[in-house]
Amino acid sequence: MSLNKLQKFAAIKTMSHVFQNFSFNHPQLICNEAPVSMRGKWHASFFKNSNPIVLELACGRGEYTVNLARKNPNINYIGIDVKGNRIYTGAQTAIDEDLKNVAFIRTPIEQLHHFIAPDEASEIWITFPDPFPKFPDRKNRLISPRFIDLYRSHFATKSIIYHLKTDNIRLFRYATGVIDGRGYKIHTCLEDIYAIDKKIEDYLRIQTYYERLHQGLGSAIHYMKWEM
Ligand SMILES: C[S@@+](CC[C@H](N)C(=O)[O-])C[C@H]1O[C@@H](n2cnc3c(N)ncnc32)[C@H](O)[C@@H]1O
Repeated sequence: MSLNKLQKFAAIKTMSHVFQNFSFNHPQLICNEAPVSMRGKWHASFFKNSNPIVLELACGRGEYTVNLARKNPNINYIGIDVKGNRIYTGAQTAIDEDLKNVAFIRTPIEQLHHFIAPDEASEIWITFPDPFPKFPDRKNRLISPRFIDLYRSHFATKSIIYHLKTDNIRLFRYATGVIDGRGYKIHTCLEDIYAIDKKIEDYLRIQTYYERLHQGLGSAIHYMKWEM
């Protein structure tokens, strides 16, 4: 049965693996309609193990979160997005498949530091972020200097691997400029990952809703992996 937006909002309110923050001024996670404090407690209070935690930023329907969680039961995944109706899809799949290594946080990514401690994330995926093509909006790009500095200053206790996948070649080249310009180590920089002569890791073949959409319109897909 397909649900409308309001039904999806109502459904995620009752899910014990979905944590929602509704306030920019007073950031607070709510789960099962009760305030909860998760920062620094994800391993002990939610996952009940000490496995690494991987974040998917701009997760939308959470395809990377869910697919990677299926492939790697010994790794924990948290999908993060501001849109609850999108998160619902991945959250419901995690319930249907009884995936215990999956959680979702509904919050603006700008507030992530309130909910994840500096040493809690070991890897970060940024999947098909909005390109915000207009110049005045550039600060909203999730790979803009503002966000890159925010990730780096928060997750400062160790170096972390980051993955970016996008269909937008301008955004991709902008991102490589930002990362390279700051001197971070770029491990892989692939334009058009599905070009026939390229061998790519299996995990790069996971396709999100926006990937399928843009591929269907003829766009090539690009990938960068870096460390900072
Ligand atoms: C183009 S969609 C991609 C969704 C998904 N990764 C995919 O590939 O299908 C971009 C997503 O980024 C989310 N987003 C953009 N800016 C955000 C922010 N500052 N905080 C949280 N989510 C954000 C939007 O809500 C949207 O779901």
